[in-house]
Amino acid sequence: MLTGVPVLVVDGPEAAVAAEVLREQGAVPVGWGDVATRIGLVRIPAGTAAQAAEEALAWAHRNGIPVDDRRGTGRATSAGEVVLVGGGPGDPELITVAGARAVEAADVILTDHLGPVDLADRAAERGAEVIDVAKIPYSRQVAQERINELMVDRARAGKSVVRLKGGDPFIFGRGFEEIEACAAAGVPVRVIPGVTSMTAGPAAAGVSLTHRGLNHDLTLVSGHVPPESPKSLVDWDAAARMTGTLVLIMAMKNAGAIAAALIAKGKDAATPAVVVENASTAAQRVTPATLATLGEVIERDGLRAPAVIVIGDAAGRVAQLG
Ligand SMILES: C[S@@+](CC[C@H](N)C(=O)[O-])C[C@H]1O[C@@H](n2cnc3c(N)ncnc32)[C@H](O)[C@@H]1O
Repeated sequence: MLTGVPVLVVDGPEAAVAAEVLREQGAVPVGWGDVATRIGLVRIPAGTAAQAAEEALAWAHRNGIPVDDRRGTGRATSAGEVVLVGGGPGDPELITVAGARAVEAADVILTDHLGPVDLADRAAERGAEVIDVAKIPYSRQVAQERINELMVDRARAGKSVVRLKGGDPFIFGRGFEEIEACAAAGVPVRVIPGVTSMTAGPAAAGVSLTHRGLNHDLTLVSGHVPPESPKSLVDWDAAARMTGTLVLIMAMKNAGAIAAALIAKGKDAATPAVVVENASTAAQRVTPATLATLGEVIERDGLRAPAVIVIGDAAGRVAQLG
C-alpha cells in the first residue's frame, strides 16, 4: 500500500507518467528538491539513464530506503500487466534473476504456500499488496476463478501484478488457465519460467533422475487422484512397464495405493524409492524406501506434503552432499 507514502521519482523520460501512476495509487511523488521529506520509496522509472539510476540507488542504499527499479520492464506501467513467475521449489535463492526482479518491481503479488514465500513477505514490507491465494491440498482452497478475477482487476487498475507460483507455472500449476483468463480480459501477460520441484527436489537431495547406463526415460505423474479413480487420466499399466525413473508429485495421500497398483501391474516390489519432503528448505527430509514399503514408510515416519517421490533404480543412489 503506497497511500500517503512520499516516493522519490528519479528523473528520466518516463518520470512524469510514473509520478501520475503513483499519485493514482495514493502515493506522494516527489523530486530531488524535496528529499528533506522522509522518503518511503525510491522509484526508478523505465528508461532512466544509467548514471541517474546508479546515483539514486547509492543514495537509497546509504539512507536505507527501498527501491522500486522499473528499468528493464520496458515501459512505465500506466497500463497494468500480469507476470506469471515460477518461484522455484522454496529456497528464495532458487527463483530466476528475472523472477526476483519482477517480484521486486510488482505493485501486487498473488502468492501460494509453495515456492519462495519469504520474497512475498519482503515485498509486503516495502509496501506491495500481497494476497495469499494458497490452495492447500484437502484444506483451505481459493477458487481459481477468484484468483483470475483478482489478477485481472488489479491489472485493469493499472497495477503491475505478479502471480508468484511454486516451481514452474506450467507443471501442474494451472498457469495456462491464468494466461487464458488474462487474454480473455485483454490484460497483457508474460511468463517467467521457474525451477520445477520435479527436478530441483531430487537434485537438492542428491538424487539424480537419470544415470548413464541406468535409464533412458523419465516420467512425471501427478498422484492427486488414486489409480482406481475413474477421474485418473494416467495409464498406470504403461507407467508400470516403463523401466526408467518415475517421479510422483502431489502423491503423499495416495502413494501406498499407487505403489500397490504398480506392483500389481508387474513392477518389481524391490524397486528403490525415495521421498524428498520440503526440498530446498531448512525442513528438507530425505527418506529411502522401496516400492513395497513406500506406503508404510510414509505412514511410519509421518512424511507430509509437499514432497517429491522418485521411483526407479536411480532412486537407489542418494549422494551425500555438503
Ligand atoms: C500443485 S503442484 C505444483 C508443482 C509446481 N508447479 C512445480 O513445478 O514444482 C504441488 C506439488 O509439487 C511438489 N512440491 C512443490 N514444492 C516442493 C518442495 N519444496 N519439496 C517437495 N515437493 C514439492 C509437491 O509434490 C507438491 O504437492
